[in-house]
Parts: sequence; structure tokens; C-alpha cells
Amino acid sequence: MIVAIDGPSGSGKSSVAREVARRCGLTYLDTGAMYRSVAHACLSRGVNPEDAPAVAEVARTVRIEFLPGEDGQRVLVDGEDATTQSRTPEVERAVPPVSATPEVRETMVAIQRQFGAAGNVVAEGRDIGTVVFPGADVKVFLSASPEARARRRAVQRQGGNLATGHDVAVDADAERAILADLVRRDDYDSSREASPLRPAEDAHRIDSSELSFEQVVKAIIELSPELAARAEGRRS
Ligand code: DC
Repeated sequence: MIVAIDGPSGSGKSSVAREVARRCGLTYLDTGAMYRSVAHACLSRGVNPEDAPAVAEVARTVRIEFLPGEDGQRVLVDGEDATTQSRTPEVERAVPPVSATPEVRETMVAIQRQFGAAGNVVAEGRDIGTVVFPGADVKVFLSASPEARARRRAVQRQGGNLATGHDVAVDADAERAILADLVRRDDYDSSREASPLRPAEDAHRIDSSELSFEQVVKAIIELSPELAARAEGRRS
């Protein structure tokens, strides 16, 4: 079975998708990490992220591997651990033009479909339900207000995690800057020509602004009798 979870950054979809996969015995696929890996490879190879033909070549030749890690999944780019580096501000700036390049998307979508061909996957990103797996068994579009998403990111940057109830104090200016950046990125992702961020018509929409992590995970599992049975089967 294939579960597609799409939504804007900071909606909590990565932690939620990982947890649904864990509880239901499915494999987790983080497609955002793939676009980040291509952006990281461009920077390490000295390729300008705006140079579409050169970026497309990087996407065709880069080797991206996922490994299980102690604190979540680790990403290897061309054989080197890039888990931390793929979240730096430099990569954050490079990834929008990289992921808006149609040839990059074609290459990544082909890899994602190969991954899905084995079945039993929870894939999360922006275009999973619309482009990558339009026939997915369960489609979710997870959103949250920009303010709620900015707060989660700000807490995460200070080492906390609202998903697990680990709240920490955050600087109000830093939170405002994150909010401005989120709104800018949402506009860019939703208005780009190649696979803009939008819900699939048949996606279940969940707004997580006022929901706990546990409530969102449960709401998704309850959408499908097969998911519920898998989760139940693994508990007993
Ligand atoms: O989910 P994330 O923040 O790790 O995604 C990183 C970037 O990749 C973000 O700018 C959106 C883009 N992305 C995309 O265009 N398509 C996807 N399926 C996943 C991510």
C-alpha cells in the first residue's frame, strides 16, 4: 500500500509520516531530503543552483542513499553523510530553484516511483498525491497556520520538539524571521510552474494547528481500515 502525505514546510509532516510508517510497518520516504541532497551536491560541486542544465546534470549523477539512524534517518550524498549539512541556511537558499527545475523533478520522481514499486511506503513531500503517486491508497494534505508552523520551527532550532511536548523558550525576533521566511517559501512553492504545492482533489485535509502530534498520527491511521489493521496487528 502507498500513503501520500503532502503539505507545506513546518506542517509536521516529516515526524508524522515517520511515525505512521513505524506504527504500520511501512517504509518511510522523505522526498524533501532528496531535493535537499541535490542542492547540497550542487554546492559541493560548485554548481550555481540557478543554472538549470548544470543542476539537471547533478540530479542525474548524484548518489542519494538513506540509512536508518539513531535519531531518525541519515542521508548519504555521494557516499558522505550529509544529514546535518542538508539543513544549513545555504542549502535552504539553494533548494527552491533546484526543486523548481523540471529535469530535476523528472529524475527524482523516477527514483521515488522505483522506491514505491516495492509497495508499503509512506512518502511525504509536496507533489506525492498529485504527481508521484496519483493512485496512492491514502492521500493526506497536512497544513497548519503559518504562525503554528513558525513556532514549531523556532522551538526545533532551539533543540526542542513540540511533537514530543518538549517546549523551550524562543526569541521573538527569531520566530518572526522564521515566519517571514516560511510565508516566502510557501508562496514560491505554491506558485512555481513545475509541480506546485497543492492538495490532490481526493486528499484528506488535516489542519494540525490545534492538534497534538498523537492526534494527527491517529487521524491518519484511522482514515484507512488497512492502516488501522496494520497498526493494531503490530501492537498485539
Ligand atoms: O520538506 P522539506 O522542507 O525538507 O523540502 C525541502 C524543499 O524541497 C522545499 O523547498 C520544497 C521542496 N520539495 C519539493 O519541491 N517537492 C517534494 N516532493 C518535496 C520537497
